[in-house]
Amino acid sequence: MTNIQQNKILIIDFGSQYTQLIARRVREIGVYCELVPYDVNPYFIEKFNPSGIILSGGPDTVNQNDSARAPNIVFDLKVPILGICYGMQTMAVQLGGEAKSSKKAEFGFAQIRARNHSNLLTDISDEINSQGHGLLDVWMSHGIEVTKLPKDFELIASTDSCPIAGFANSKKNYFGLQFHPEVTHTKKGIQILERFVTTICQCGKSWTTKNIIDNLLEKIKSQVGDKKILLGLSGGVDSSVVAMLLHQSIGDQLTCVFVDNGLLRLNEGDEVMKTFSQNLGVKVIRADAQEYFYDQLSDEADPELKRKIIGGAFIEIFNQEAQKIKDIKFLAQGTIYPDVIESAGAASGKAKVIKSHHNVGGLPDNMQFELVEPLKELFKDEVREIGVKLGLPKKMLYRHPFPGPGLGVRILGQVKKEYTDILRRADHIFMEELNNQGLYEKVDQAFAVFLPVKSVGVTGDERRYDFVIALRAVETVDFMTARWARLPYDFLDHVSNRIMNEISRVSRVVYDISGKPPSTIEWE
Ligand code: XMP
Repeated sequence: MTNIQQNKILIIDFGSQYTQLIARRVREIGVYCELVPYDVNPYFIEKFNPSGIILSGGPDTVNQNDSARAPNIVFDLKVPILGICYGMQTMAVQLGGEAKSSKKAEFGFAQIRARNHSNLLTDISDEINSQGHGLLDVWMSHGIEVTKLPKDFELIASTDSCPIAGFANSKKNYFGLQFHPEVTHTKKGIQILERFVTTICQCGKSWTTKNIIDNLLEKIKSQVGDKKILLGLSGGVDSSVVAMLLHQSIGDQLTCVFVDNGLLRLNEGDEVMKTFSQNLGVKVIRADAQEYFYDQLSDEADPELKRKIIGGAFIEIFNQEAQKIKDIKFLAQGTIYPDVIESAGAASGKAKVIKSHHNVGGLPDNMQFELVEPLKELFKDEVREIGVKLGLPKKMLYRHPFPGPGLGVRILGQVKKEYTDILRRADHIFMEELNNQGLYEKVDQAFAVFLPVKSVGVTGDERRYDFVIALRAVETVDFMTARWARLPYDFLDHVSNRIMNEISRVSRVVYDISGKPPSTIEWE
């Protein structure tokens, strides 16, 4: 088996909102990388044995006393280093240069002029000016800048307002860029990163979807051998891709359990069964547990407690099903790399928990299984590409995210079967129309919410006194912040009419115009 992680890049995270983007870009180029917090144990860095290091941006002010620093070991390893924004500033300060508040903070597009023909930027430009200098359109976001180069460094880029917008020590292969090559606004950003990882760090491009799949299939086989394995299949992207990988690798040794909790979207249970069991030949047990879930939820209105109840009920049902199957040795989970990064952040106290997210993965320690987590080094876009290659329907892989507790957190307060039936139909109409009008892909998440308040309406000559449906659609890159989607009024009008005409228990439809922050995407 080829080692597709032999040449790899380590990204040191100083907390920029773009750090995961750097990692995704490096992987798109075809090179494996990992991301660690700046205060990671230096021993980890040494053991990781990177071919190059990228220091990310971050929110700290580099000339303040307690601001974050790159661990010294990165400068002892004798590998190329690229510092981006804060990463450049701290590199400057740590190596004897200086950084100060900029006269004018820069946020947005800027044009930089490349200088001195550095290994990093040579022959990469958007245009050439009349004096023959390469110019690059880039994305800047900083209030501090390097004001004095460290010893043995030279200037490689500048703008009118930021004289040191890039520097290099070409002997050591250390580079700093004040702008962000990882964002798409920097048009040639991907070429710059590619130059760094492939030419300067000399990493081969072995991180490809085909190689990843071949490796995973082998790894699963060698871990699981001829033993039996169990997977909680939710029909979401991650567990679906795990199911396909396991199915291809070890076939019949896999049993999936699909728990129908009564909080799924219209026809969802049947569709999951059809895709996996009928079309793909995966062994799936369907546990119909709607009544059990409704029963458990019947007296609870608090969002967090509802999440806990749903999580607990899932474990209970899953456990019951697992016990019916003899000799299970392994349990598979669809943990992906951002979950790993997030829990590492949570462990070091750097991530705040706003809502406890229940995923199918949250099973108790006392289940005596060994874990198999084939996706734990992969980003979501890599998981999707693997899914496409393994033959899963695109519609399933590119669906908007759906929370683990499902409609349970989209019915405000107490959950009742009567409410789920109304919400399911309203949500279905909204999705159908988004698809019909080509708007589904234009938003990143859309859904309906059931509000258990009654409002007065009129149909023909009759007065209605019934429930309210809220429509929510957002545009977001990372789901951490979001903007409400500016859907066309005529479209909203059409959806609203359909919902009220087709569902007699709804007397009013509203559209949610709250951004995140201050609101969250889900209503609970
Ligand atoms: P919020 O509401 O926190 O949502 O802005 C951000 C993203 O997370 C999803 N979400 C959940 N996913 N279990 C999940 O698996 C949960 O309990 C949960 N709560 C929110 C939400 O749909 C959005 O994509």
